[in-house]
Amino acid sequence: MNALEKADAAERAMMEELDRVVVKSVIYTSGERDPREPIPRPPDLGKRYLMGHDPRLPRMPDKPTLFDFFKLRFGPTQHLMQSARLAQKNGVNEKIVLACLLHDIAAAGFIRGDHGYWTAQLVEPYVDEEVSFAIRYHQALRFFADESVGYAYPASYIRLFGPDYKPDAYIERDYRYARDHQWYMSARLICINDLYSFDPNVRVELEEFTDVVGRHFRQPEDGLGFDVSPSAHMWRAMNWPTKYL
Ligand SMILES: [Fe+2]
Ligand SMILES: [Fe+2]
Repeated sequence: MNALEKADAAERAMMEELDRVVVKSVIYTSGERDPREPIPRPPDLGKRYLMGHDPRLPRMPDKPTLFDFFKLRFGPTQHLMQSARLAQKNGVNEKIVLACLLHDIAAAGFIRGDHGYWTAQLVEPYVDEEVSFAIRYHQALRFFADESVGYAYPASYIRLFGPDYKPDAYIERDYRYARDHQWYMSARLICINDLYSFDPNVRVELEEFTDVVGRHFRQPEDGLGFDVSPSAHMWRAMNWPTKYL
């Protein structure tokens, strides 16, 4: 058995222990396996298919808040909290502090590629337009220096992507669009406060931002995922990532 087959076998064994059949979305495994092939599924054994909460995950409250997603569904979020704290220390306005706190949540809990666009879409119904604009365009602006505000091309990108890396044409196009926009500096401020090296001795608590979130994030009464907003289904997908249909 090769490594992938072993991993599959271990996963199948675990799935067989669950009382429901769990089938992963194609996007989770595309590349690891050929997306055109049928998705492997455990033997039926007369079980029903998972249509809600995945028992392997911590259960979310019925009306989940932003902080519930931070605590129960996102990967490590110190980067986001440290960025928000830095923004606060640099004296930016509260809306931008919120933008810094949220700027990478798609990478933390949803889909990495194009994370600025996904994150903006997730939060758009609940924040001021300027906040979602800043989040959407921070992704493109990250790749382009602006010496006038002391923002250099990140050294870590040279390490991660190589010295010859050129952003895709759509990223460059969106950078140009943002550069001429009235909210350019809002998006740029996310880049300026986007910390790459974390101080492991600094621990920022989410509760530090309770007031900022309370004032600038319009939490839906029915909970994220259960309101009628255009991104509700995306929050539900994070809450129930293995729901069959
Ligand atoms: Fe980012
Ligand atoms: Fe970031």
